[in-house]
Amino acid sequence: MASQPTDRLEPAAVPLTPANNGDGRKVPTHVAIIMDGNGRWAQRRGLPRWEGHRAGTDNVNSILEAMEQLGVKYVTLFAFSTENWNRPREEVLGLMALLQDVVERETGRLHQRNVRVRYLGRTDRLTPQLRECIQRSLDMTKHNTGLNLSLAFDYGGRDEIVHAVRRIVQDGIPPEQITEDLFQQYLYTSDLPDPDLIIRTGGELRLSNFLPWQSVYSEYYCSPVFWPDFDRDELERVLEAYSQRKRRFGGLDAAE
Ligand code: FPP
Repeated sequence: MASQPTDRLEPAAVPLTPANNGDGRKVPTHVAIIMDGNGRWAQRRGLPRWEGHRAGTDNVNSILEAMEQLGVKYVTLFAFSTENWNRPREEVLGLMALLQDVVERETGRLHQRNVRVRYLGRTDRLTPQLRECIQRSLDMTKHNTGLNLSLAFDYGGRDEIVHAVRRIVQDGIPPEQITEDLFQQYLYTSDLPDPDLIIRTGGELRLSNFLPWQSVYSEYYCSPVFWPDFDRDELERVLEAYSQRKRRFGGLDAAE
């Protein structure tokens, strides 16, 4: 179901940059993105879906650069879900090849920009070549202190929770020691802050098994723009909308 977001705003009169965050605008520390709409972007142009994924991949770099410039510290990209295995075999293989290609091609440049790459998801169903290529990227960038980029690939929130429960049982943790904090340490995201903002492009209004544990107090923004066309202007509109949200985490504002 396509829908229009209700809080779409005009571009900020003053562009959001770290330098003007002091005027009361909040910049999210962690932005997670469901990069949806690649297939429809391609179909509208009479192209195969594959071309949409390729155009979507080409869009990643400029959005990461904009995030860095705007002061975002953590970016998580949902690139392949545990349910995406149900797509036609050629599309699945195409997405695997695309990820391997982009990780091989971009890791050097990300490393030069001090970006740390992380991986969220299962690795047991990847080809050994893709697994090794991802591991090389994680190893090369592990001491970097700039933007934290997490690639969610073969990731599903329910799968992550089941995986965590299995490891807790294997570790013999007694029930009374199982707390939210402990559980969190068994998730793929153990060393990441929860996302402040989840953006879904492509106009759909659902979470699709993305970070269900971590997103309980995230702000959501649904952009009608297909991922390959999601540009810096649209990102600034989203961040402007975010900066006007009141986050109470279940409590009350000081004045209430
Ligand atoms: C959803 O669009 C998109 C995906 C399932 C894949 C997203 C993957 C990339 C952009 C590849 C690159 C990834 C990285 C991390 C560089 P869709 O195919 O469901 O679109 P539709 O809803 O229009 O069919």
